[in-house]
Amino acid sequence: MCGIVGYIGHRQAYDILIKGLKRLEYRGYDSAGIALSDSDYRVYKCKGKVSDLEAQTKDQNINGKIGMGHTRWATHGEPNDSNAHPHKSMNGKFVIIHNGIIENYGKLKQGLEKEGYTFYSETDTEVLANLIEFYYINNRKNGNSFTPEDAVRAALNMVEGAYGLVILCEDNPGQMIAARKGSPLVIGIGKDEYFIASDATPIVEYTNSVIYLNDDDIAVIDDKGLSLKNLKNIPQKPAIHKIDLELSEIEKNGFEHYMLKEIYEQPRAIRDTYRGRLNFESKFLRLGGLHNVFKQLTEANRIIIIACGTSWHAGIVGEYLFEEFTRIPTEVEYASEFRYRNPVINKGDLVIAISQSGETADTLAAIQLAKKAGAIVIGVCNVVGSSIPRETSAGVFTHAGPEIGVASTKAFTAQVTVLTMMAMAIGQANKGLTNQEFTDLIDELYVIPDKIEKILEKSEKIKEIALKIADSTNSLYLGRGYLFPVALEGALKLKEISYIHAEGYPAAEMKHGPIALIDEKMPVIVLATKDHSYDKIVSNIQEVKARKGVIIAIVTEGDTTIKEMADYVIEVPHSDFALAPLLTVIPLQLLSYFIAVERGCNVDQPRNLAKSVTVE
Ligand code: M6R
Repeated sequence: MCGIVGYIGHRQAYDILIKGLKRLEYRGYDSAGIALSDSDYRVYKCKGKVSDLEAQTKDQNINGKIGMGHTRWATHGEPNDSNAHPHKSMNGKFVIIHNGIIENYGKLKQGLEKEGYTFYSETDTEVLANLIEFYYINNRKNGNSFTPEDAVRAALNMVEGAYGLVILCEDNPGQMIAARKGSPLVIGIGKDEYFIASDATPIVEYTNSVIYLNDDDIAVIDDKGLSLKNLKNIPQKPAIHKIDLELSEIEKNGFEHYMLKEIYEQPRAIRDTYRGRLNFESKFLRLGGLHNVFKQLTEANRIIIIACGTSWHAGIVGEYLFEEFTRIPTEVEYASEFRYRNPVINKGDLVIAISQSGETADTLAAIQLAKKAGAIVIGVCNVVGSSIPRETSAGVFTHAGPEIGVASTKAFTAQVTVLTMMAMAIGQANKGLTNQEFTDLIDELYVIPDKIEKILEKSEKIKEIALKIADSTNSLYLGRGYLFPVALEGALKLKEISYIHAEGYPAAEMKHGPIALIDEKMPVIVLATKDHSYDKIVSNIQEVKARKGVIIAIVTEGDTTIKEMADYVIEVPHSDFALAPLLTVIPLQLLSYFIAVERGCNVDQPRNLAKSVTVE
């Protein structure tokens, strides 16, 4: 949720921190702050964006070759100056930034209050800063050599919850401490300099050598270099990885918003996701990441897909694909429900966890539960080095590239591409698909990116329609079969970036309730491409029309029937109906984007949201 960045080395830290915070701002943008250290440390922080922090620090002393920065998505306490990070301990010995939640902070706070501690903020982080200080001061009273690292370890052993932390201690101004449990932290290794961040985006400009901290790791960095131990004080061997990320991938490259850039990147993202896995000429499909478990996959009794948000919508498309191509019973669960409802998980069940970020707290917890119950758990993730791929024994990466816009777009189509290939591979192996069906699907999937390019060419027309309905307060999205999850996704896209209330429904369910909402002010977006339920969806459109709803229909190129009934139509190229989600979601993404821009909304950083949800 929050973004963390730290620097220790031979350069001035300020510019690195500000630039890093801007790259991490998609993780939270309620407030921002930095701490810089020379011989002492200085803290600057404020409610609002990183640009507000920059304005605040304009005439301040910003020197310091050690520093850390934070951009916040509020959990405890409203977004204001005093709840902003960094947080200082009461006696000023420690200053810390934190991503995560300290679940037992209330109890810890009471204990500290009994010891005379007072608090200026409502945050769990300030409690942790004071707990560290409490251990530090008390253990040094007798003149023993209790270090800041010892104090951090003692405090973290008392903590329940999740954290990514960076800590400075006034007594050791040349040292920086980082610790992780549940919330991601990456350390970049340069020449005589180190970078710490929640993800690699602030680091990639300076180095591509990184260490991903594991849960319970505590890293201490000073002029002697980096030492890594765990919560039990046992030395850990840091594994150095090379990150494969270009700076241009995390910049807007001429687009007005990241979201628009990412919508336009979808043909490339899908090609990159199937490249090297699917061979169009030899009609060959192989998913290397599943090699070790492939036999078990083909023999699975049941598939359970777990995910949140847009990834959950991709999961429903996956359910339809798996059942159709493999005949293996498949169900899709919200990770947050799955983890707390004592689900039936049998040994040999296949659990597929889908997550763009690879850090979603509920999905991670659901994976741990499934593993404990003996299921084979595989991941479908976009961010290499994130927690979910490291938590799962096998998996397939989506190669969408970094997704910065909070509204997920290219991650969705890349996830659906992976799920399609997985279902095809298992279906080919267990004979759920005939050879002809399999090769036809390869041919169809191969040309999907070209078809998306054709839809993107229609963006001006989609913009015109968007302007006509941008003032609406409610909207309904309808679809059947494979297009039902697309309706859910279209509605989510609209509500999260334009703040228009939107609901996605299976079209036939409309008459069981939502039809009551329809009047001449209600845009109804109907996914109505040609498939076996086309006639049914035509009837649904008539039902809406009879109640004067405004119909925006997504139809197959050349459709004339619906054109006569709908107020607006957007054509998409014909495709196999199992692949239609990959095409029909594109106009819905563009529609939401243009509506949100027209309404003056912050498209890339919608209110109250954050890109990666690392708290439950
Ligand atoms: O990183 P994940 O895919 O696990 O994230 C899941 C959801 O938080 C995410 O899809 C969210 O719903 C997006 N904002 C939707 O656009």
